[in-house]
Amino acid sequence: GTTGTTGIKLAEPHLEDVLSSAGINVEYTRAERNTLYYRDQDGQEVPVLDLVGGFGSLILGHNDPEIVAHARELLAAGTPIHAQFSPHPHANRVAAELNRVIHRETGDTEPYFAVFANSGAEAVEAAVKHAELDRGLRLAALAEELAAHRDSAREAVAAGARVEAAAFESAGTAPEDGIEGLIEAVERSNDRQLARPPLFLAPEGAFHGKLMGSVQLTHNEAFRLPFSALAAQTRFIPVDQPDALAKTVREERAVILDLVTEDGTVRLTERPFPLFCAFVLEPIQGEGGIKVIGEEFAREVQRVCQEIDCPVVVDEIQSGMGRSGAFLASSLIGLRADYYTLAKSLGGGVAKTSVALIRQDRYRKEFELVHSSTFAKDGFSSQIALKTLQLLEADDGRAYRLAREKGEKLLSVLELIRADFPEVVKDVRGRGLMLGIEFHDQAGTASPEIRAVAEAGFLGYVISGHLLNEHRIRVFPTGSSVNTLRMEPSIHLDDEEIERIRRALRAVCEIIRDQDGGRLVHA
Ligand code: F0G
Repeated sequence: GTTGTTGIKLAEPHLEDVLSSAGINVEYTRAERNTLYYRDQDGQEVPVLDLVGGFGSLILGHNDPEIVAHARELLAAGTPIHAQFSPHPHANRVAAELNRVIHRETGDTEPYFAVFANSGAEAVEAAVKHAELDRGLRLAALAEELAAHRDSAREAVAAGARVEAAAFESAGTAPEDGIEGLIEAVERSNDRQLARPPLFLAPEGAFHGKLMGSVQLTHNEAFRLPFSALAAQTRFIPVDQPDALAKTVREERAVILDLVTEDGTVRLTERPFPLFCAFVLEPIQGEGGIKVIGEEFAREVQRVCQEIDCPVVVDEIQSGMGRSGAFLASSLIGLRADYYTLAKSLGGGVAKTSVALIRQDRYRKEFELVHSSTFAKDGFSSQIALKTLQLLEADDGRAYRLAREKGEKLLSVLELIRADFPEVVKDVRGRGLMLGIEFHDQAGTASPEIRAVAEAGFLGYVISGHLLNEHRIRVFPTGSSVNTLRMEPSIHLDDEEIERIRRALRAVCEIIRDQDGGRLVHA
């Protein structure tokens, strides 16, 4: 019996145990480009080809030399890092540079204002909070207008105007109750609408983070449901049913009643109530299993959201910063955002920073006075973000070309493997350096070892453990698509690395095809 804590693992030890059981819990001691190193029992450095890429935060690779040199210079120069409530020229420059790049790529010219944060989920929540502030202000303006119309109706009736008979009927009241009865019924109905919590829209398979608000935008029930009482809810839209979005919007359609006085008559009209706070979507779903959103779905989102005046939040936290072969993956499918979110690679693999960009036409400057974070816009992260943008933009966008070309090369290797192992590989997909290989679920295999892990939903993890231990390649399935291995290497990916991936994946596919579980599953 001791109460000491020396040597006890207290930082999420259960997760470590789970990772250990799949053989993927390795401590890395050094990192560069696409390589992580660990030390074996003899203290020798062992290189591992890292395809996890910080789950997408390493478009420039681990410890990019120019980013590291810049970080060193900043620290050596005593650059102010925390100087809250003072001008922040570096954050302003990041915002200006982001605008320049987005305008070039989309052809739009409207400015986006920037609200900085520290993590992906935080940027999503800043965007969503802003959208709700905006919705609230629109609702307040609407309520004011309705009150003015009510007063006019009352005055008009006092001066002899008539009330349309249908008005009483629609409001569920009778002509004998007079204008006051009608007003009371209308206000009761409107108050009920105004008290409704906002609703969000997102595609099935969405992942937008795990904080209280953002986890409700995340489709995976295991992540979302235990916390659903904490925040506003989302209606999830299947991406493969063209009319599903319009149908959901129809189902949830809410109206507010307005008493309009015209030509000496008071009428009751219905006006749309802005129930939907935002449609939030990733142009390429990452955690959902590398699913590229189709142009048709994107167009439908745009069309319906415009119709109901619901802002579109395009979450480029994983797909953005050049990973797709363009700065914004959404630009490749013609999807335009009222809000963009960026994080992950924005910090160059060194700093933690994120940003919500808000289109001027939607922007509410009041937000700046009610939302903040101690660490947002700090001098260090902002200057690292600026350097990262400079590196991506250098040589006429060489980084985007690299992401596209190397991604195409790796994808064609994956496609050949799929063609050779159709009974093992179900699908390969993605864009640029955001690729996935999905395995068939193998519940029907003759190998009892493989069947057991497949039935437990661990096939992807066991394949990952095998790739790490046998081939020194680090890759993971996603939490929401457990048979899909996700590959997000940096733009430094070279032919030798692609060849290693090819050999390792072919070897794994042979084992699974031959139902040789003893060689796949580690004791
Ligand atoms: N949005 C997207 C599209 C993401 O992929 C992630 C994180 C987040 C938001 C949340 O960012 O972790 O910085 O708070 N995705 C990781 C993944 C964790 O597994 O794909 P965060």
